[in-house]
Amino acid sequence: MAHTRLFALLCVAAFLCNGFSHRRFNGRFSEIPVTVQDYWFEQRLDHFAGADSRVWKQRYYMNESFSSGDGPVFLMIGGEGTANPAWMTQGTWMTYAEKMGALCFLLEHRFYGKSHPTEKWIVFGGSYPGCLAAWYRLKFPHLAHAAVASSAPVQAVLNFSEYLDVVQSSLARNHSNCPKTFKLASDTLIELLDHKENYAKITRDFNLCNPLEINSKMDLSFFLDTIAEYIMDVVQYNNDNREFEGVKNTNITIQVVCDIMANEVLGSPYDRYVEVIHTITKAAQEKCIEASYQAYVQDMRDCRWEGAASTGGRQWMYQTCTEFGYFQSSDSTSQPFSGFPLR
Ligand SMILES: *[C@@H]1O[C@H](CO)[C@@H](O)[C@H](O)[C@H]1NC(C)=O
Ligand SMILES: *[C@@H]1O[C@H](CO)[C@@H](O)[C@H](O)[C@H]1NC(C)=O
Ligand SMILES: *[C@@H]1O[C@H](CO)[C@@H](O)[C@H](O)[C@H]1NC(C)=O
Ligand SMILES: *[C@@H]1O[C@H](CO)[C@@H](O)[C@H](O)[C@H]1NC(C)=O
Repeated sequence: MAHTRLFALLCVAAFLCNGFSHRRFNGRFSEIPVTVQDYWFEQRLDHFAGADSRVWKQRYYMNESFSSGDGPVFLMIGGEGTANPAWMTQGTWMTYAEKMGALCFLLEHRFYGKSHPTEKWIVFGGSYPGCLAAWYRLKFPHLAHAAVASSAPVQAVLNFSEYLDVVQSSLARNHSNCPKTFKLASDTLIELLDHKENYAKITRDFNLCNPLEINSKMDLSFFLDTIAEYIMDVVQYNNDNREFEGVKNTNITIQVVCDIMANEVLGSPYDRYVEVIHTITKAAQEKCIEASYQAYVQDMRDCRWEGAASTGGRQWMYQTCTEFGYFQSSDSTSQPFSGFPLR
């Protein structure tokens, strides 16, 4: 099945908007409470067609407070979501900016949510924007003096089965049995899914927003992936610093999750998996889990800027389908989940 998540397993400091985000747009694409002045500049619509002079307004943020006049210019590249101005005061790059007397810009990615370089520009990004930073430096070495590309998956592949290999080894780091317990749990879940009479129980266990309904392979893959993605997220963003971006469940780490998976008092591996999902969704303040493929397709078809997936999920789906792939399939044998192969 087509997965929209991008990844970046070893989270480093500078996640811009969302990092490699995916189709669950909650949290990472939420509205930003900070009030910071934004700026707009005239951007060419098509950089590849010289005769096309159409322009549009692109948003950016600026912080001049460390700028020493002859220092470099830092350009943080926005990613697949609304640009978060919290970055204008926080993040490791601000420490660098202070040291180097840099003028700082944060540019919102087109379709989500510059000015031409005249001096020494250093571009920043984490995850997908990390790729953009690296590619920008590669393509325009005369414009970008350096790029800081954190957790940048610069090798875009369609069948990105390696993603879950890294999830597995990360889960095993402190608890060698953790991946195996997840495997037992996901096998049990798949067995339960074999019988429709278990659907009510599964709906309750995972606190689904709508009664589970599975009429196709896609329905099944979508459900299994939706649940597994909660674990992928914990690993991908383990111990990162996104609290200042407004992310609520940063305290749910690999350690927390694997402690639960190792706690036999909580019941079977399946019961512990259920407990893990509760812990994550509770900390994220999610009321219920939307796991319906039909509902997802409906959101993807909604082209309005007010649509449910309009701040990033839909655009990112478009980009992964047409530009990158990065589909996090369950095709590898060295990972604990099943049921969402690349098709
Ligand atoms: C620029 O960064 C400094 C240091 O974090 C902060 O005090 C100041 O308010 C920021 N200015 C803007 C416009 O964000
Ligand atoms: C988990 O593993 C990491 C990396 O090896 C280590 O730094 C950390 O202290 C460990 N945490 C616990 C609670 O064992
Ligand atoms: C994580 O934080 C949330 C909200 O701040 C809190 O309700 C929850 O108990 C915390 N969970 C853990 C495991 O620390
Ligand atoms: C995806 O990659 C895995 C591991 O490299 C491989 O086993 C699997 O056959 C691939 N799936 C497809 C559909 O190509």
